[in-house]
Amino acid sequence: MKIRNVENKAFLWTFVMRLFAHNILKDSQHFLPKANYDERHGKFPRYFSGWYMFVNSKGLAEGEVIHKKLNGIDLVVHRNKEGLPVIHSDRCTHMDGMFSGGLGTVVDGQIVCGYHKYKFENGVPQSGPKDFKNDVKNCIPCFKVKETHGLVMFWFDAESENGIGEPQWELDLPDVSDLPRLAFARSITPTHMAPLHENIVDDQHFVLLHEADRYKSTPEPYFEKHRFKTANTMRIKLPHKIGPFQFNKNPDLDMVMDTEFFGLGIHINTVNIRGFKATVIHTTTPIEDEVTEWSLNVYMPKRKWFAKLDIVWFMNNIVYPWGMIAQTYRLHTQDRRAFFEKGKYDFYEDSPKGFEKVNMFRRWVQEELLGEKRPMRKNSVPTTYVSEADIERNSSKKTETVA
Ligand code: FES
Ligand SMILES: [Fe+2]
Repeated sequence: MKIRNVENKAFLWTFVMRLFAHNILKDSQHFLPKANYDERHGKFPRYFSGWYMFVNSKGLAEGEVIHKKLNGIDLVVHRNKEGLPVIHSDRCTHMDGMFSGGLGTVVDGQIVCGYHKYKFENGVPQSGPKDFKNDVKNCIPCFKVKETHGLVMFWFDAESENGIGEPQWELDLPDVSDLPRLAFARSITPTHMAPLHENIVDDQHFVLLHEADRYKSTPEPYFEKHRFKTANTMRIKLPHKIGPFQFNKNPDLDMVMDTEFFGLGIHINTVNIRGFKATVIHTTTPIEDEVTEWSLNVYMPKRKWFAKLDIVWFMNNIVYPWGMIAQTYRLHTQDRRAFFEKGKYDFYEDSPKGFEKVNMFRRWVQEELLGEKRPMRKNSVPTTYVSEADIERNSSKKTETVA
């Protein structure tokens, strides 16, 4: 195996072991990579409001309690009587007992504290002395949760002390009803989610890391501040023939991988490779500092083993999902670690010439997500956000012209 872009083989093996452990063990506290927030990111915010993934639906059985530290807070999730996920603090309001670590259980959809066994239903105490049960102060505040696309998502409010708040936007993920096959893999990477995304939007990395022949990316207008969109095509050269696979004498394989971010917690890739279609929902949830849980949720068509042996067959049966997941994690999680271990993340600076899309991404984060002004400098590119007022102005102009 050719090992590139990593410091040494030992690192690769720790990475492979971690990947294995993170997909077997659900608690993110095990085998966490070490990070040093202060040295690397300066004043860049650790946490951003938005929708984040807690766990995938299949990973949360009835009667199960899963603990994770996410966005710097110890949280637990379980399913209530209706089977709906409930997310709240890992601490019991009685005497600070914990639900995690195998101490807490779930009985009839109620979570039971490991310490004095008090029960809570959707955060509301169900047992204990009357004055404890009847005091609203003893309710455990719950996060806003939405379970969709096989993902348990919650709204995190970066402004509030306990992370709980009203969602500022709807969680409207793309329709995947024609892509019924779902694969899930997670990795924990010692990088803040913003530079991790930056690395993925960076035009140059497609040529340098993915070894593409050509890469084209066009920024797309977006109409809501929390969305950032680009249309992307990567061209790679195929051999004329691999085993039984003929490539119509056309070795150029164009891979359409359009990108849309919903805040920093969700990044959607819409893939089209000569008619093979897939959707990849990347979810990035900070654990703390700059350690991020990064999940790849791959939605694909059903497998057809006895179909024409063409590129669609090859992509659907051989490359997706595992080849694609391995490639993504290998190139991105390792590379970022090697880069940031010694480097600095100059978010507030413009990136050099040739990296304009990274600049644009930084502007989106700073202006739209953080609500700050970012001065236009030499290599600056404006974002393509179009406000509702602009849309109305344009449409009324059109109507005037027609009249
Ligand atoms: S600390 Fe939870 S029941 Fe007492
Ligand atoms: Fe990439």
